[in-house]
Amino acid sequence: MYIIFLGAPGAGKGTQAAYVAQKLNLLHLAAGDLLRQEIEGGTELGMKAESYMEKGVLAPDSVVMPMVLQRISDAEAESGIILDGFPRNLKQAETLDQALTQRGKAIDKVVHINVSEEELVKRLSGRRICRSCQMPYHVVSSPPQVQDSCDRCGSELYRRPDDSVEAVKKRLEVYSTETAPLIDYYSRAGKLLTIDGEGDVGEVGERIIAALHGEGL
Ligand code: AP5
Repeated sequence: MYIIFLGAPGAGKGTQAAYVAQKLNLLHLAAGDLLRQEIEGGTELGMKAESYMEKGVLAPDSVVMPMVLQRISDAEAESGIILDGFPRNLKQAETLDQALTQRGKAIDKVVHINVSEEELVKRLSGRRICRSCQMPYHVVSSPPQVQDSCDRCGSELYRRPDDSVEAVKKRLEVYSTETAPLIDYYSRAGKLLTIDGEGDVGEVGERIIAALHGEGL
């Protein structure tokens, strides 16, 4: 089973992908998390992506696509994958479709998480993430049990450099010009499920699970 989580920065893709993956026993593969791990590890790939990420623009397809497609094929034996933050433009979506078709597979559904811009800005301005496992928290709506420490693995929490006011503005622009056209792309393919992303985390997660079950997944 291949499910894509699509939505603007701060819509809750990472939060919901973790929630739904755990409930449905799927693997959560997040392009942004993979890139941040490469940066933390000081790899060549991380160095190539870092300056783009800090500015809030997309990293080059030539850096991101091989990395994600490789992880998908490594994970093929699993019961299914949630792709979070990939694809991000039409070229990535078409390349993903071709790669899956070659293996006799296809994307099953695309969950589009819809949240107002006012709420997106509120969420990103209070976000903290775990330096090690990348779990997202929010200083008001979902604080960790121990301040600045991840509930899941105990590592330090930090504020992403691209959550600055300037970078968030740029990311929202990039989303609207490069990624939002995917809503139409997957809608035409009959694969889009649009979910209201406002409400508490569990409530939104159950909406997503009910919608997937409604499609027989
Ligand atoms: P990426 O890491 O994918 O960032 P993003 O898409 O901008 O999305 P975010 O991680 O900011 O938000 P989210 O929707 O996951 O929200 P979250 O669950 O954290 O990408 C970063 C960068 O990497 C890109 O700008 C680009 O440079 C590069 N990149 C990544 N993929 C790429 C690709 N395919 N191609 C090229 N470049 C790529 O939630 C946000 C906050 O809200 C958290 O604090 C959370 O606790 C809180 N929250 C969540 N749900 C709720 C709720 N229901 N109620 C209240 N608060 C909530």
